[in-house]
Amino acid sequence: MTPVAAAVAADIRRHGPLPLEQVLERALYDHSGGFYESGGRAGRKGDFLTSPEVGPLFGAVVARALDAWWAAMGSPDPFVVVEAGAGPGTLARTVLAAAPACSPALRYVLVERSAAQRRLHAGGLPLEDPALAFAPVDPDTETPVPEAPRGPICVSLSSLPRVPGPAVVLANELLDNLPFGLAELRSGVWHEVRVDLSAPAVGFGVERLVERLVPLAPDRADVLDRLVPSAPSGARVPLQSAASDWLREALDVATPRGRVVVIDYATPTPELAQRPQSEWLRTYANHRRGDAPLADLGAQDVTCEVAVDQLALVRPPASDMSQADWLRQWGIDDLVAEAREAWTAAAHAPDLAAIAARSRVTEATALMDPEGLGRFRVMEWFMVR
Ligand SMILES: C[S@@+](CC[C@H](N)C(=O)[O-])C[C@H]1O[C@@H](n2cnc3c(N)ncnc32)[C@H](O)[C@@H]1O
Repeated sequence: MTPVAAAVAADIRRHGPLPLEQVLERALYDHSGGFYESGGRAGRKGDFLTSPEVGPLFGAVVARALDAWWAAMGSPDPFVVVEAGAGPGTLARTVLAAAPACSPALRYVLVERSAAQRRLHAGGLPLEDPALAFAPVDPDTETPVPEAPRGPICVSLSSLPRVPGPAVVLANELLDNLPFGLAELRSGVWHEVRVDLSAPAVGFGVERLVERLVPLAPDRADVLDRLVPSAPSGARVPLQSAASDWLREALDVATPRGRVVVIDYATPTPELAQRPQSEWLRTYANHRRGDAPLADLGAQDVTCEVAVDQLALVRPPASDMSQADWLRQWGIDDLVAEAREAWTAAAHAPDLAAIAARSRVTEATALMDPEGLGRFRVMEWFMVR
C-alpha cells in the first residue's frame, strides 16, 4: 500500500467506510504523499498537458480577454485577476509575456493549494508581498495612492483571497481536480460509493481498498432524482459538492462587478449517467492513463468531467461555449495569421522569432482541436452587483 492508502486504511479501521471525497482529498493533496504534494503537476515535464502548457498562445489570448474585461469595467487600477489552481504558474508567465495593456494596473494573484507547486511560482514571475497586491486606494477619491507600486504585480497564495474591488477569477482545469463523490442507481434508489477495506481472506489475505455502497443522503438523492429522472439501472454519476462550494466562494470574490471564468472538460449529469464511469473518471501519471481510482492512492492524478448542471444549481452561467469558440472570440485567428506571415517572411533563414511563430500555428491546432482541448467548455458568470 502507498503511504496515503495506509493512512486511509487506518482511518477506515477507526471510523468505518469513508466518503470518496475524503479519500480523494488525501490522494491528491495530503501533505505527506498526496499526488500534488509529491511532484505531480501539469506540463511537458509533468504528468499531463493543459492548454497553458501547450505553449504561450493560450496565455496571449487570455491577455486579450483580460484587456477587454478591464476596459469594460472602466479600467480599474488596481485590476485584480485571481487565477485559481495556478499549478506551476505557466499561464501567469505567458499572460505577462503578452504584455497586455492592463499591465500597469494588473495585480495577478496565483492561488495554488499545493506547496510544491507554489515554490515554482518564484521562477520568472515578479512575486511580491500579498499586501502589495491590492494597492491602497484613497477612500475619498477612490484612486490609488501615488506611492502605490505599478503593475504587473504577482502574488502567490494557497487559498482564494478576499479582495476589496471587482476581480476576475479564472480557473483552468481546476474543477475537474477537486475531490468528488460518486453515486450509483440500484433498484431505483441512489447509493453513495464509500471506500472500505476488503475482508481479509482467512489466514493470509492482503487488505485492499474496495468500494462499499450505502444509501445516499435523502437531500442529495433528491437532487439527483431531479437532475437525472430517467437514469438507467446501474448508472453512475459524480457528486460535485467541492466544485459547487468553490464556485460559491469564487462568485463572492468576484463581487461586485467582476466575473468568474471556468475552463474545463464539462458534461451534464444525465449524459454522464449514460456513459461508463471509466470514460469520465480518469487517472493520469507520467502522461499516461493510470490505474483504477483506488489503486496507488497518491501516485496518480484522479480527475472527473465537471457536471455543469450541478454547478448551475449554484448559479447558471451567463455564457457557456466551447474553448475553440472562446479563443476565436478573443482573437486567436488574428494571432495565428500574424504568426503565419512572420514565418513565411523568414522561412528561408528562420531565426528564433520565426520558429516561435511557426510553433504558434501548431499550438493553435492543439488548442482548437474539436476532439481535444477545443471541446472544453468555457463557462462565465458575470457579477452585476
Ligand atoms: C489540473 S491542474 C491545472 C493547473 C493549471 N491551471 C493548468 O491549467 O495547467 C489543477 C491544479 O489545481 C490545484 N488545486 C486543487 N484544488 C485547489 C484549490 N482549492 N485552490 C487552489 N488550487 C487548487 C492543484 O494542486 C493543481 O495544481
